[in-house]
Amino acid sequence: MPLSIVILAAGQGKRMKSDLPKVLQPLARRPLLAHVLDCARALSPEAIHIVYGHGGEQVRTAFPEADLSWALQAEQLGTGHALMQAMPAIPDDHRVLVLYGDVPLLQPATLESLLARAGDDALVLLSVLLDDPTGYGRVLRDNAGSVYRIVEQKDANRKELAVREANTGVLVAPAAALRGWLARLSNENSQREYYLTDVITLAVRDGVRVEAVPAPTAAEVLGVNDRLQLAELESEYRRMRVRALLQEGVSVADPTRLDVRGEVACGRDVQLDVNVVLEGRVVLGDRVVVGVGCVLRDVSIAADTVLQPYSVLDGAVIGARCVVGPFARLRPGSVLLDDAHVGNFVELKNTTLGVGSKANHLTYLGDARIGSRVNVGAGTITCNYDGVNKWPTTIGDGAFIGSGSMLVAPLTIGPKATIGAGSTLTKSAPPDTLTVERSKQISLRVWRRPHKATAEERDARIEQARLPAEPSSE
Ligand code: UD1
Ligand code: CA
Repeated sequence: MPLSIVILAAGQGKRMKSDLPKVLQPLARRPLLAHVLDCARALSPEAIHIVYGHGGEQVRTAFPEADLSWALQAEQLGTGHALMQAMPAIPDDHRVLVLYGDVPLLQPATLESLLARAGDDALVLLSVLLDDPTGYGRVLRDNAGSVYRIVEQKDANRKELAVREANTGVLVAPAAALRGWLARLSNENSQREYYLTDVITLAVRDGVRVEAVPAPTAAEVLGVNDRLQLAELESEYRRMRVRALLQEGVSVADPTRLDVRGEVACGRDVQLDVNVVLEGRVVLGDRVVVGVGCVLRDVSIAADTVLQPYSVLDGAVIGARCVVGPFARLRPGSVLLDDAHVGNFVELKNTTLGVGSKANHLTYLGDARIGSRVNVGAGTITCNYDGVNKWPTTIGDGAFIGSGSMLVAPLTIGPKATIGAGSTLTKSAPPDTLTVERSKQISLRVWRRPHKATAEERDARIEQARLPAEPSSE
């Protein structure tokens, strides 16, 4: 039977005390709803419907993807009412899986087993066994263990409140039958809401098989109602991701001090030191070492490369056996070919550093193509920006750039060129040649060291240094 997934996301999230709709609140830097969508898409459904309401247009524009259908719930009259808004677009021969937009850690495998249990004709819901189920609907079973009802916290009596099996809100049911049950819901309850959970009673009355399957872990079905829960989920997310990396064979110095916020693919014997943050899509080759405090976003690193502590890499592609940092910054478009070295306080942007080339200290390389075995001396700067335009710099293989060079782009430095330290180059430098731009060094015997100025001398010097009122013609 084809599958339609409905994600309920119209709730206001008042307790977040935020201008941002709840399902757009970030978990691991992505909206809550994005996590739910990942899980939904992993089930390859025929359709995904999102029921939206509060902050509606903001939510819709955040998810422009073509595979999503949107159903507006203008007034929040309950979870049953919410699901009803999506039902007109769902054919009778589908199965419907209901998810919540604010329950982001749910795993596809859990839902797959739920769907398998349901088959084509049963109503199966995901429950969870909790030590403290306060706030949740309780799953009521008869003496034979069969589910016959869900009672909401606010409608439950003392005996029902003692039940520890809680409703997660996730359920699957055949569309045609579900449509019928939803039409029969009433709002005669303490909250004057149309409860989706009341379909359980109606299904039982119709003789439909109803089951509740407990989730493998309580963490997976945690929802977000306030910022405290959001922070707890962030920790839980981190734990889940780190556990998965450890299981894949990655060595993690301290599992509580690694943040994984994106997709990470690691080779064998990768080492991650403490306070590392991995975001976006990160690929780490065999034996890559990531030092203390490194932040990596959308980075790919080949085997045996070492990132020394406190390096920040964003949108970089790094070859094998490179050494980066400590305190290096690689911005988008940075490419390090094999055996390249980038040292402390070096920044690269949209720059390729060739095989075996080195820029080890205090350097800015932007919009540059640098060949192989180039030595970029300390304090070198590609002056790529004239205040309006960005210009490229090209440096040939085997060139040696002396310390403190200012390379005013656009500029080409030929292969095996040598640039004398302290040069400000505004013209290209030929290959196999020493190019030096430097004023002549002088030594003055008559010069004397300054003495401590008196108050009058001080005032006079400062007065002298003022700009004239009229700009001079020079
Ligand atoms: C619901 C369940 C409860 C379950 C709990 C799990 C019902 C009646 N109760 O309770 O059994 O234990 O979830 O967290 O279903 N939503 C809408 N429109 C609405 C109301 C809600 O889209 O009119 C969405 C919310 O955005 C949220 C989800 O439905 O994603 C659940 O809503 P919420 O108000 O949190 O339900 P609870 O009362 O907590
Ligand atoms: Ca809730």
